[in-house]
This record gives sequence, C-alpha cells and structure tokens, in this order.
Amino acid sequence: MATPLILVLLVLSSVLLWTPSFSISDGLRAGSWLSVEAPAEVLTSPDGSFSAGFHPVGQNAYSFAIWFNKPTCSATSCTVVWMANRDQPVNGRSSKLCLLRSGNLVLEDADHIIVWETKTVSATPTQLKLEDGGNLVLRDSEGLVLWQSYDSPTDTLLPLQPFSANSNLISSRSQGNYSSGFYRLYFDTDNVLSLVYKGPEFSSVYWPSPWLLTWEAGRSTYNNTKLAVLDSLGNFSSTDNLTFLSADYGSKISRMLKMDFDGNLRLYSLQEGSEVWVVSWEAFPQPCMVHGCCGPNTICLYTPSFGRKCSCSPGYKQRKPDDWSLGCEPEFLLSCNQTDQLDFLKLRHVEFYGYDFNMYPNVTLEECKQICLQMCDCRGFQFRFIKAHESDGTYCYPKSQLLNGHRPPNFNADFYVKLPKAAVSSYVDTVKYPELHCSNQVEQLQRKYTRTHANESLRFGLWTACAVGGVELITILLVWIFFIRTNDKPSPNAGYLLATTGFRKFTFAELKKATNRFSEELGRGAGGIVYKATLSDGRVAAIKRLIDANKGEAEFLAEVNTIGKLNHMNLIEMWGYCAEGKHRLLVYEYMEHGSLAENLSSKSLDWDKRFDIAMGTARGLAYLHEECLEWVLHCDIKPQNILIDSKYRPKVSDFGLAWLLNRGDVKYSKFSRIRGTRGYMAPEWVFNLPITSKVDVYSYGILLLELVTGKSPAAEIQVSDEGSSKTQRTLVTWVRGQMERALETETWTHEIIDPKLEGIYDEAEMVTMVNVALRCVQEDKDERPKMGEVVEMLFRDGSQ
Ligand SMILES: *[C@@H]1O[C@H](CO)[C@@H](O)[C@H](O)[C@H]1NC(C)=O
Ligand SMILES: *[C@@H]1O[C@H](CO)[C@@H](O)[C@H](O)[C@H]1NC(C)=O
Ligand SMILES: *[C@@H]1O[C@H](CO)[C@@H](O)[C@H](O)[C@H]1NC(C)=O
Ligand SMILES: *[C@@H]1O[C@H](CO)[C@@H](O)[C@H](O)[C@H]1NC(C)=O
Ligand SMILES: *[C@@H]1O[C@H](CO)[C@@H](O)[C@H](O)[C@H]1NC(C)=O
Ligand SMILES: *[C@@H]1O[C@H](CO)[C@@H](O)[C@H](O)[C@H]1NC(C)=O
Repeated sequence: MATPLILVLLVLSSVLLWTPSFSISDGLRAGSWLSVEAPAEVLTSPDGSFSAGFHPVGQNAYSFAIWFNKPTCSATSCTVVWMANRDQPVNGRSSKLCLLRSGNLVLEDADHIIVWETKTVSATPTQLKLEDGGNLVLRDSEGLVLWQSYDSPTDTLLPLQPFSANSNLISSRSQGNYSSGFYRLYFDTDNVLSLVYKGPEFSSVYWPSPWLLTWEAGRSTYNNTKLAVLDSLGNFSSTDNLTFLSADYGSKISRMLKMDFDGNLRLYSLQEGSEVWVVSWEAFPQPCMVHGCCGPNTICLYTPSFGRKCSCSPGYKQRKPDDWSLGCEPEFLLSCNQTDQLDFLKLRHVEFYGYDFNMYPNVTLEECKQICLQMCDCRGFQFRFIKAHESDGTYCYPKSQLLNGHRPPNFNADFYVKLPKAAVSSYVDTVKYPELHCSNQVEQLQRKYTRTHANESLRFGLWTACAVGGVELITILLVWIFFIRTNDKPSPNAGYLLATTGFRKFTFAELKKATNRFSEELGRGAGGIVYKATLSDGRVAAIKRLIDANKGEAEFLAEVNTIGKLNHMNLIEMWGYCAEGKHRLLVYEYMEHGSLAENLSSKSLDWDKRFDIAMGTARGLAYLHEECLEWVLHCDIKPQNILIDSKYRPKVSDFGLAWLLNRGDVKYSKFSRIRGTRGYMAPEWVFNLPITSKVDVYSYGILLLELVTGKSPAAEIQVSDEGSSKTQRTLVTWVRGQMERALETETWTHEIIDPKLEGIYDEAEMVTMVNVALRCVQEDKDERPKMGEVVEMLFRDGSQ
C-alpha cells in the first residue's frame, strides 16, 4: 500500500530536485548534444550570469531555455529570458538538443521528431556558445555568426540586444505557463513601437494610446530604421523617438525588458547582491488600461494590492474558471422583439472602449435607451456629457461588444448595460466587496518576491528521499495554493517592489533653499507647519516641518520609507524627507486647490465634484485600510486633511503621521492619548474601546454628511425649525431627525442639502451618500461597513 506512494514521492522529488550543477562553458561542438535526461548539463556564459539548458515547463514537459543564474533558481522556476520551443515542449525522456555536423542545430523530441531547428548549414565545423550578455551564438570555424538567440527573442529583451523591425516580444500565456500569450511588442508599419492585444476573438493596439495622435504620444513615424535598444546603464531608446530611463539609471546591473503576461511592458532591475527583481519602469502604471486584460464582458478593477482584479459585468458569468482571458458570457437570453422586457443598469464611471455602432450627439438619456433597444445587437451604451466650446452636449455611443471595460480615474461618463428587467432589479445591493484576511502584520507591505533556496543538507542520500518528497509535496501544495489564490491577481508586479517613483532623501540646506528660508507658510496642524517650496527640479512642493518628532533617525527613516511606499491616486504623494540632526521634514506634492475645508466654505464645489470627492476619499482610505495594515489608520479624517488637486481630485493627506509622531503602538490598538478632532471622533475614543480601522469609517461618515449638508460638525448646529428651535444637536442626530420627520412627505433631502448648491444636485446620489454616511456613523463599530464596502456602495447605489 505504501510502496506506490513512496515511488510517487521518489519520482516527484527527482523531478523537483532539478538543479544544474555541472556546466559546460566552452560550448557545444558539432556532433555533440545536450540531453534532457542530464539536466545538470548546461551551457554557462563565461562570467557565470546565464545558463542554457532544458527547463521544465510542466509535467514531463521541457523547453530549451536560457535563464539568469541570479536570483538562484528555485524548485518552481528560474528567471527565463529565452526559449526555443515555448509552444511545443518536449518529453522528459530521450529528448535532445543536437548540433549536427551539417551545421544545423536541432531540438528532437523523444520520438526523434524535430520540434525546433535553426536550419543553418556550414561546411566547416561549428560551435554553440552562450555569451556573456545571454546571447546563444552558433558560429562556424571562422567565427562567422550563423545564428543567435538575440535575433529571435521570446518575451524578454536583454541590455544591448537590438530590437529590430523583425523582432517581437510575445508575452507568455499566464503566470507559470510559458507558451505564447496574447500580447505583443513590435514595430508597426508606421514605424512606431507598439503593443497589441491579439486574443481569440478580437485584437487592438493599445500603446501608444489609440486616442492620441502619434506625435501627441511623443512618437515619430518618420524613421523607418526601426531599431530600439536598452543600453547597459538603463537608457532605452528607439528610432520612433521613444526613450525612457530606468529608475536606477547609471549603474551597470542586471536588467531585462519583459512583455509580461498581463499585457504590461516592464523593465526589471536586479540590485547587486539582491535576490529580488524590482520594476524600474513600466508602460502602464494603471494595469486596467491594457486592452483585453480581462476578456469580453468584464470590468477590470484596479486594486492597490493585487494590481488588478477582473469581475464580470452585471448579468454575465465567467466563461472558464481560472482563465479570465476568455471573459464572461451572458446569463440571460436577449430577445429582440420583446423590448418591453429589457432595461438598463447604470454603471457609474465605467468605460467600455471601442466597438461603437455610431455616435449620436445631442440626444437625451431616454432617446439613447430607445436607440439601443431598437438595435438587436446593442449590448449597452456609453452616455457622456462633454463640455467643450464647439461640441457642448450629450453623446450617446451604443456598443456591439463589451470589451476593455474598466473604471478609469476621472472618467466622467456612465455606461448603461442592456439586461432583462428582472436582472436589473436584482442588482441592487447584491454586490459584495471581496473579503480581506487580516493578520495585522507590518511585513505585509513589503511583500518581496524572494526566491527560496533549496536546502542542500537534505540532498545527501537516497534514504532521505522520502522525507524530501514529503517536504516537496507540501511545497507543491503550497505552490498550488499560491497559484489558485493568485489567479485573480494576475499582475506580476504584485509581488515586486516598485521603484519607479522618485522617493528620495533631501538635505536640510536644500529644503531651506527650496522654501526660501521657510518664508511661505501654507498651514499649521498635526504636529508641524507646512511651507510652500520649489524644488531644484522645478516641482512645486509642500514641506511639512515636524515639531514634535523626537524619534531616532534610523527609526524615523524606516517609518518614512514605509509611508513613502504607499502609493495611490487618492493619497497625497510623498516625494521625500529630510532627517538631519534634530530636523525632521517631509516633502509632499503641492495641491493647487488647498483643502476640502476651504473649498466647502466657498461655492467652488458643485454636486458632481462633491460626489467624486466622496468616492475618491473612500478609495484612498480603502487603500490605507486594505492590505490589512490596520496600523495605517488615519485617525484624523476631516475636511482639513483632504486636499484637492487642480482637477478637483481629492487626496488624503497626513496619513501615517499619527504613527510618525507617536511611538507605533497603534497597531496594537492601544493609543496612549485621544487623537482626532472633535466632531469627527468615533465613540471608541471616548469609551476607551479598541481602536480599529472603523474609527476612520466613522470620521468619513461625518465628512460625507458635511459634503451633503455643508454644515461642519465642529460648529454646533443651530436648528431653527419650529418645535425644536434653540436646541443644539450634533450633525448626525440633526440629519436623522430631519429624515424621520420629513419621511412621509419625502422632502427631507431639501431640508438637509447644502443651500450653496442652490437645489442643483442628483437626488438619488445624495440619498445614497446620506444612507452610507448614516451606516458609517453607527455607535457600534461592528455595524459600520469597511471602507472597501463603502466604495462599492457608492459605486453601485449611485448607479441606480
Ligand atoms: C499553457 O496554456 C496553453 C493554452 O491555454 C495550454 O494549451 C497549455 O496546456 C498550458 N500549459 C501548461 C503547462 O499549463
Ligand atoms: C524627438 O524628441 C525630441 C526631444 O523630445 C524632439 O526635440 C524632437 O523633435 C523629436 N523628433 C521627432 C522627429 O519628433
Ligand atoms: C533614424 O535613426 C537612426 C538611428 O538612430 C539614425 O542613424 C538615422 O539617421 C535616422 N534617420 C532619419 C531619417 O532620421
Ligand atoms: C539615451 O540614449 C539616447 C539615444 O542614444 C540619447 O539621445 C539620450 O541622450 C540618452 N539619455 C541619457 C540620459 O543618457
Ligand atoms: C420573437 O422572435 C422569435 C424568433 O424571431 C419568435 O420565435 C418569438 O415568437 C417572437 N416573440 C414574440 C413575442 O413576438
Ligand atoms: C447640440 O445642440 C446645441 C444646441 O442646440 C448646438 O449648439 C450644438 O451644436 C449641438 N451639437 C451637435 C454636435 O450637434
């Protein structure tokens, strides 16, 4: 009974203990071969950086590949940079790579079928060598190059490897599956370096952005040389005028430009002595802009922790579990002659790109619905209001396909998806935000993609094989679980450290100069004074000089570095810091429109801006709370801490500060003193209850009420209605009271809405905001939603 199991374990362990240790650095000569059954036989480059040999790509499936020797290969994989037969792996028995005396290099499968060959011919003896840059070169005895791997890259371009008119980088199918995927980097016929998605059902070019003219994207179509190269210092330049520098430009380190399976083009760097590839440039900071990323009938959502997340458009279900590239299919049958059975579900701020039947200007929403109903193949329509001098008005775009669905930041249009009436009504309030599993560990933020080293001591005898097999079975299970669990987060950079932002250390002299000796004060609060500054590179910054930061330099640095890594469009960006002697300063981006508090007291915010500020703030907070980093509680949410940029996007500021100023016992929920601002503080503070992320939810709820009513909770509310005149109440009880009293007449919205809006607002959205707000300000913290749920509630309910 136990014998077959032991056999299985033995086989498994021999497969997984695959680690090359014997190598051939003087190359392969004519008439010799490499065998898949001797995995230790590999070609190694003279400097030891690269190896070429058989690499496992699946169960009993091998490809001939070139890989980096650092980071160290693990049981699961190496950093593969090239493959000969990615789409036709060979058998794990008797397959060979042979250099024939005729000069042809052939890869033979077990049954002597040739799966790949160079088709080279040479009269003189040839030699195959792996060179220092990772180039596998076949030369004749005169040294003439007959064939080289640099000419046929797979998905990776190495430094100094020329990328030419005939080159393609084709992504792999998915994480862990090396076969050809759907994304391709190539020189288009107009001489522009482009990215295209070529899926089973449709294809489209998505980089440079299709809605930009070539020159607007900074590209040139004039030079038909079609050549691009990444130099050894990290400068990429192409004849179409595309150039970019690696974030670590200047140092000679290992780098690779990779067409990732998620459709993003990324440059990776490996620091000296490091085991971690770091993203040092990428084509899309917003992964959902990649076309085809989730397949048809899906909406791609950007989530800070996983990069992106696919979900089916309402009314559709996933076609094949674990494979988002196939997208979703309808759960219903649309019948064309029964238009009275059909309705539309509004998806706020969602865009489906392309596949318009036509564009109809100056039609009402109702007319647009009719247009789409009349078209049998219309799946829904984009409806937007464009404010421009010449083309003021509404635009209706009925669509034949729901492709490239996503929610772009600041996209001010809605999508209306066509569904059976019954389906539309069932979509209210049924959407759940994915559950988070909190472990409260600080380490989670710096998830590094570290490869594990095989344990050498376990390898010395056959008798330990069973033990090894057992260990490996667990490893397989873990790897398997990892892959299952990660299926929904196919961003390969999810586990990498992003180094594309220019976070850095400043000297005190530098900042003194930038602020003109701290002359222009922007404001005071939360532990410091904020000054306006102009940095040496011309950027305008806001510099916060901390007064009370009595921390050691090392500790301060560690914490600032962590805060600096928090990166979200609704969080204020930290550009750097200064820690010199007693000085502790933080350098932030500067916000033109000041704080939400200033804007609320003026008339600058119309209803749409208020709703978007509510949504953006919720997203920023959801990001802080997500990742399970409960210690990134803000603890002082109020309009003074929400800053507004030039496009009226909200950015949460001062996060992490509570923690910088006070010793970080925050994560154990034991604050030594009450924080926050009167009016916005959750009851937990007063009653000395455990402090969780729900304190921010409470403050956010108050903020929502303030956005709706224009009334500050800090100022006591003077209610002048009859019956309750001269009583003073809190904002929450005032709103609740108004709602209850006016519920029969349904006029409560008019009673509480900010008079500065002069009656111009979206009533449905306003009702949603008030309902969400009242849920957020529940006395019992467990009754309050999570920030992530708030985002979904605003998004969904706002769509009705
Ligand atoms: C990789 O994906 C292709 C296409 O879906 C599939 O045919 C192949 O079996 C996959 N390979 C592995 C090792 O999963
Ligand atoms: C290429 O870029 C440079 C600098 O951005 C610009 O000066 C030049 O005009 C561009 N060339 C073309 C042909 O667009
Ligand atoms: C095209 O680019 C190549 C390489 O940068 C350069 O040598 C050549 O002069 C360019 N041709 C034109 C017409 O600009
Ligand atoms: C990068 O390379 C391009 C083309 O060779 C060159 O024009 C540019 O100045 C280089 N950039 C830097 C920072 O060296
Ligand atoms: C709608 O059209 C289908 C086929 O075109 C037909 O079978 C069905 O009876 C029609 N239904 C009505 C209500 O006309
Ligand atoms: C829409 O209607 C307005 C007012 O009638 C008009 O000025 C505008 O030109 C129209 N726009 C289009 C694109 O027809």
